[in-house]
Amino acid sequence: MSDSPDQHSTSHDKHFFDTFMLVIGGLVLFAFCLYILARVIAANTQEQYVLNDPAYTEAAAERIKPAQLLAVSGQDNSAVEAATPAPAAPAAPAAVQAGDAVYNMACVACHGMGIGGAPVFGNKAAWAPRIAQGIAILNDHAIKGYQGKAGLMPAKGGRVDLADESIVNAVEYMVNAAK
Ligand code: HEC
Repeated sequence: MSDSPDQHSTSHDKHFFDTFMLVIGGLVLFAFCLYILARVIAANTQEQYVLNDPAYTEAAAERIKPAQLLAVSGQDNSAVEAATPAPAAPAAPAAVQAGDAVYNMACVACHGMGIGGAPVFGNKAAWAPRIAQGIAILNDHAIKGYQGKAGLMPAKGGRVDLADESIVNAVEYMVNAAK
């Protein structure tokens, strides 16, 4: 019983297919071995550099640091102290200064000569209607500033760092000089 041409070609195909699968399987295995080898080499070289990179370690330490440090009594709490920024010293309240000193520092520029419509220091006519408003209004206008008919009086004469009491003293000094 000899193989028919048809049977012969079938076994030929089968042989080819078996060999083909063997080659493909071998290549896949080879590729997998190369991958493992690459990983092993990288683990001992490139990844070591990355892990030891100061920028990387710093970033990692920043990410994993506890959100909050708690001081525990009876334990070493120096880490808490180191991580706690020293509380900013409360801004010292601006010292209250005498009226004439404040006037010469912050008001004379305009009120000395009447720059920009400012009532001139010691000018009774200019100050009388203003004084008539009452000291409370004058203080308020001097501290908060205001836009009047004559011009713009800037808040605290532009020296917002001065204490309100210093401005009150300066207003009193100017008012007394114009009485
Ligand atoms: C940049 C110029 C300028 C400076 C500096 C300045 N003033 Fe005046 N001030 C004016 C002007 C202008 C007016 C008048 C505004 C108006 O009535 O139209 C005025 C008005 C006033 C009045 C009258 C307010 C009222 O209700 O009539 C007082 C009080 C006064 N200033 C206090 C002060 C004091 C105190 C200082 C300093 C701490 C000061 N000013 C610094 C421009 C200035």
